[in-house]
Amino acid sequence: MNRKSLISIMDYSKEDIFKILDLAEEFQNNPKQRLLENFVIASLFFEPSTRTRLSFESAIQKLGGKVVGFSEAANSSVAKGESLKDTILTVSNYSDLIIMRHPIEGSARYASEISSTPIINAGDGANQHPTQCLLDLYSIRKTQGSLENLNIFLVGDLKYGRTVHSLLMAMSDFNPSFNFVSPQQLRLPQEYKDFLNEKEIEYYEHDKLDENIKYADIIYVTRVQKERFSDPVEYEKVKNAYVLKNKMLEETKDNLRILHPLPRVNEIDIDVDANPKAYYFKQAENGVYVRMALICHILGVK
Ligand code: CP
Repeated sequence: MNRKSLISIMDYSKEDIFKILDLAEEFQNNPKQRLLENFVIASLFFEPSTRTRLSFESAIQKLGGKVVGFSEAANSSVAKGESLKDTILTVSNYSDLIIMRHPIEGSARYASEISSTPIINAGDGANQHPTQCLLDLYSIRKTQGSLENLNIFLVGDLKYGRTVHSLLMAMSDFNPSFNFVSPQQLRLPQEYKDFLNEKEIEYYEHDKLDENIKYADIIYVTRVQKERFSDPVEYEKVKNAYVLKNKMLEETKDNLRILHPLPRVNEIDIDVDANPKAYYFKQAENGVYVRMALICHILGVK
């Protein structure tokens, strides 16, 4: 693997993570720094995206860098049958860094093994989404003052939700308690439970989103990932399993913040948006600062 690539959040030490979060804070306070004027960065999105792609591109442009790439495979030579290997070998000649989202789990790791330039995994299937994880950590630290000893409720599609997988792995270094709320069909995969068991992290599984949320510091809600279901009937059965409504937040802690990687479908009612505990749009904004910091860290300009 190219040693600077970010494929899984586990590629980074606690020290790396804190460096990026601190740098992100610096960019939030002073975003006008032309640090990427000599760099071309490729943005290869084989799957749809709004926040990840646009916040990366915004981060690069704010820092004076250039972006090349495509936002759907149909606009590239993949449509003519070109392999991922050939695409990466070609684009690594045109750029200093490749940001890639791809539907196949492990595709980003593979790309990092053949690329001469670093790869940032912008989401590989249901596997990992490490840059979302960094901005989630940034948002949690910013709202709670610390990452330590938090009671975190992860709600929704815990099977296919890659942001949840990255987040629970990263938070496991900070003595959390986890509450996993999901339908039986969308339970957290066993490999992640094994990971938590090995690290002796406390967790509970629930079918219902109920009054237990009054103990939460963070409620992290996820969309049911329609695109990962092979059977549409199965999706229909669980698509509206949970809807967080404003009334449900009455007894919750003052420091509670509601996070969601977005896009939202129905799982957070729009009546929550005006509640000061709703943080998901600010969370998306934080993505720009965190991605500025990550790119500068990888390219060694900060
Ligand atoms: N959070 C996230 O990955 O959003 P997009 O799919 O819009 O990039």
